[in-house]
Amino acid sequence: MHAPGDTASMTPGLFISFEGIDGAGKSSHVETLAALFRRQGRAVTVTREPGGTPLAEQLRTLALNELMDALTEALLMFAARRDHLLQVIEPALARGDVVLCDRFTDATFAYQGWGRGFDLEVLAALERWVQSVAALPPRTLRQPQLTLWFDLAPEIAAERLAGARLPDKFESQPLQFFRKVAAGYAARQSADPSRFARIVADQPREEVWEAVCAAVRAGGWLS
Ligand code: TYD
Repeated sequence: MHAPGDTASMTPGLFISFEGIDGAGKSSHVETLAALFRRQGRAVTVTREPGGTPLAEQLRTLALNELMDALTEALLMFAARRDHLLQVIEPALARGDVVLCDRFTDATFAYQGWGRGFDLEVLAALERWVQSVAALPPRTLRQPQLTLWFDLAPEIAAERLAGARLPDKFESQPLQFFRKVAAGYAARQSADPSRFARIVADQPREEVWEAVCAAVRAGGWLS
């Protein structure tokens, strides 16, 4: 299984994911971090899940708008992820890019697993299938080297989302759903603490940005 740090030595690129409940404010920092890496001379691939390829974007539209059972939803998320990994993430990492991905597998555990109550063992099995890639030895999974987890109380996130654009299927879920999703993220962090940086998202934007930079610097990836 994944051992933190393993993948860094095998692939020239750097893989960072951004996670958190809807309304936590992660997305606005993706482009800012991309610009910072570019100023330091790195090539950056900015992408998102579900999505990031034409096929995966179609699967995103279905998953975010159609009602379906939790297994169907999980399979769509992982199908999109497989296409995205093979078409975009793996080639970018092989080139030496910094890959900044707005959500990755932790979202599936948090939303489909903890939020919708779907079997975590099945999700772990799908994770093993989907994140086994040619560039890595057998039983080593492609995982982000760093996951920036924007942690915000679901009550505050709900206030931020209220009045924003028309909510999608997940954004329109009740507060109780997001309490479970938030607990899912906390559980994922406990299971792999060295991969996660918890960003306290209930602060002014500038301070959140400072925390993002500090987390990336702590990994030795920014000067
Ligand atoms: P999000 O990343 O918040 O994009 P936007 O800011 O454009 O709405 O939206 C993606 C939604 O998909 C979000 O509600 C979480 C959900 N999601 C899952 O349920 N499972 C997953 O595996 C992923 C990647 C996302």
